[in-house]
Amino acid sequence: MANWGKTHEIQITETPRKGRRSSTPIYQTDLGSTYFGDSLGVLKTKPLGEHRGNVQLVFTSPPFPLNTKKNYGNLQGEEYIRWFTKFAPLLRDMVTEDGSIVIEIGNAWIPGEPVMSTQVLEAFLRFLKKGNLHLCQEFIWYNPARLPSPVEWVNKERVRVKDAFTRIWWMSPTTRPKADNRKVLREYSSSMKRLIETGKYNAGPRPSEHHIGTESFKTDNNGAIPPNVGGVEALPSLDVAITPKRFAELLEQNTNLLKAANTLSTDDYRRFCLDRGAPVHPARMPSTLVDFFVKFLTDEGDTVLDPFAGSNSTGAVAQSLRRRWLSVEANWTYASHSIGRFDPTSIASTCDEITVTEMDHTSTGQAQDEDTHAADASSSSTSEMPLFTS
Ligand SMILES: C[S@@+](CC[C@H](N)C(=O)[O-])C[C@H]1O[C@@H](n2cnc3c(N)ncnc32)[C@H](O)[C@@H]1O
Repeated sequence: MANWGKTHEIQITETPRKGRRSSTPIYQTDLGSTYFGDSLGVLKTKPLGEHRGNVQLVFTSPPFPLNTKKNYGNLQGEEYIRWFTKFAPLLRDMVTEDGSIVIEIGNAWIPGEPVMSTQVLEAFLRFLKKGNLHLCQEFIWYNPARLPSPVEWVNKERVRVKDAFTRIWWMSPTTRPKADNRKVLREYSSSMKRLIETGKYNAGPRPSEHHIGTESFKTDNNGAIPPNVGGVEALPSLDVAITPKRFAELLEQNTNLLKAANTLSTDDYRRFCLDRGAPVHPARMPSTLVDFFVKFLTDEGDTVLDPFAGSNSTGAVAQSLRRRWLSVEANWTYASHSIGRFDPTSIASTCDEITVTEMDHTSTGQAQDEDTHAADASSSSTSEMPLFTS
């Protein structure tokens, strides 16, 4: 996807220019813009203000009250809750009347004790109230690739198990936001496909007191309705007779698939950062997660906003699904290097601190395969003319 270093080169200043205005995007595509700054301020600037009431989906993963501070800093306790809830009315004003605000936050633990903090839950509840929002549904995102944590209790004392999920709250000003689960159907399991094909299954009462009708499962709805637990897409449904051994095999397979998917989707971005000596964002969101909510809650042409954009996985997924997007990130290095998620040809403009140049391959006098060029850097020169200006 990304041809940075092959067809295009880029220079990014280490720090933003003194006195740069947060209302100037740092880069833009035909569909979206990334802004650098504290979103509490940036959301009030004119360019973002123009989108007030027009954003169909706010999709974000804010910093959460961690015990150990990550590079991007985290508040704790009441201070965190007060800071977080300031965003509620601000984001509520940004969304359309049938819009959604989807927030993902990991779990927090009490420092020095093997007990969980309820701060995230409190923060969510106060956010709902202050924004006058409805909780449309809660989701759990299972992350099998997560390293064991909290290390002290899981690895050393062995008194807790691996914390492997994050919580996602889907909120809206209305009880009926725009949503369509037909856009996120999962492939039927092989047993379900067989059942639809043959039309044979045991109708009648179940121990759960549900009554399965004779026609209930005969219609092909083009896929299964997904559950509100994400990250487990390839797991067999529990109503299927399956041996523990087969379940373990499928779990292993699924874990590897997910790991592969998550790794592949961020590979270009990682390489972009590493090649330029920049830190890779430590808390990137899996693109499969962004993809699910963008498809579920928006249509092509709708606008998606991420006020804590980090490496801009939201913007990149929105771009690939032809949604408009707006991203805000307070860390210069993360914000500027998130451009590495986009193909250079999709970048429409950049600010003064970012210079994109098309690499001039004509000096060799012959058309060559891109990869041959990349391997032989000496045959390529970068043109002096910047491609884009702010
Ligand atoms: C959990 S990360 C988001 C990761 C992102 N979803 C991704 O996939 O890369 C939270 C981000 O919020 C940024 N941030 C923290 N406070 C902010 C603020 N007031 N305004 C804008 N960004 C902020 C941090 O720098 C960090 O990159």
